[in-house]
Amino acid sequence: MRSLTGPQDTWITIDSKWCLNLSSNNYLGLADHPLVVEAAQNCLAEFGAGAGGSRLISGNLELSSQLEKRLAEFKHCEDSIVFPTGYMANLGTLTSLATKSDLVILDKLNHASLIDAARNTGATIRVYQHLDVKKLTSILACSGEYRRKFVVTDAVFSVDGDLAPLPDLLDIAEQHGAILIVDDAHGTGVMGASGRGTVEHFGLDPRSLINIGTLGKAFGSLGGFVCGSKVLVDYLRNRARTFIYTTGLPASVVGAALAALELAESGDGLRQQLRRNSRQLIEGLAQAKIDAPHRDTPIVPIIVGDSEAAVQAAQKLFEAGVYCPALRPPTVPEGTARLRVSLMATHTEEDIKLAVETLAQVLSANQSGGS
Ligand SMILES: Cc1ncc(COP(=O)(O)O)c(C=O)c1O
Repeated sequence: MRSLTGPQDTWITIDSKWCLNLSSNNYLGLADHPLVVEAAQNCLAEFGAGAGGSRLISGNLELSSQLEKRLAEFKHCEDSIVFPTGYMANLGTLTSLATKSDLVILDKLNHASLIDAARNTGATIRVYQHLDVKKLTSILACSGEYRRKFVVTDAVFSVDGDLAPLPDLLDIAEQHGAILIVDDAHGTGVMGASGRGTVEHFGLDPRSLINIGTLGKAFGSLGGFVCGSKVLVDYLRNRARTFIYTTGLPASVVGAALAALELAESGDGLRQQLRRNSRQLIEGLAQAKIDAPHRDTPIVPIIVGDSEAAVQAAQKLFEAGVYCPALRPPTVPEGTARLRVSLMATHTEEDIKLAVETLAQVLSANQSGGS
């Protein structure tokens, strides 16, 4: 692990080197936004450092309930529940809802936390190839023997930056009496006209599915949440072991998330800037003859293929002052090692220009075997 000294910003000091940061999920630049930092500081002064216990025993800060109310309003759902992380939200939700008489169906490229969650349910697990709606339909068509069926997917895929076809998935799930669970970790705050996420982007009714998110990416803080019906959320409060048997989030973290939520909700300008930045990067890469798929998300994968070559490219970028990590199997499928560029709304035009120039230099040197 490289060592970061200083805030999570567009430029960072990492392993003592000043680098352009192309690695952060802090998509809206809120992790060190002055109003978010001030909210955290105020909460720290008022409530101290830690929650002191599980929320069911003594650690249920009123502020956490406020955050849940705001998240439910934001996502247009009846209620929400906040977990210490997005990973724990996924684990707690699936293990509370699915049992060994159920079927859990996953996209092959789902995030590790959804895979781990499914494995911990004891349910039968089926996996369809990435985005293969036909295969999902055929799995569901033969699923009569199961008590409940769950279709579980990332909304914005974390390493490819592409979108799940949520309208199709919802249709198919409804036709077969299955429940759709959507992990919108990378879409919340980013996708949709008011940042409500990928469900808003597709114009779906948020009450027709279970919507999970994280506070650790566009909201620049820490925590995970589940939005849904009152009955669902009450059930999770009483069943989800990753909610019950763990210390509540500290007030400073909750206060930061509340401030970030306000900024994200009114952050249309930030979202537009983020899209402009993505477009500038994709167009620049295309001009430099570097293959990168066009997505409407801040995640831009540049497939290198060979793991060693991807690691070498990341190292050369770092030496040139650009921090962009390489992702290798098993995080990504064999033969698709890549540089995962993630952009922030606060990157400037100059930053993106520099990113393109440096990527072009490094990748062309890599292709020709140069140093
Ligand atoms: C799709 C997805 N879901 C869940 C998580 C976990 O969220 P958290 O970091 O809040 O635990 C991540 C990344 O960390 C993710 O990319």
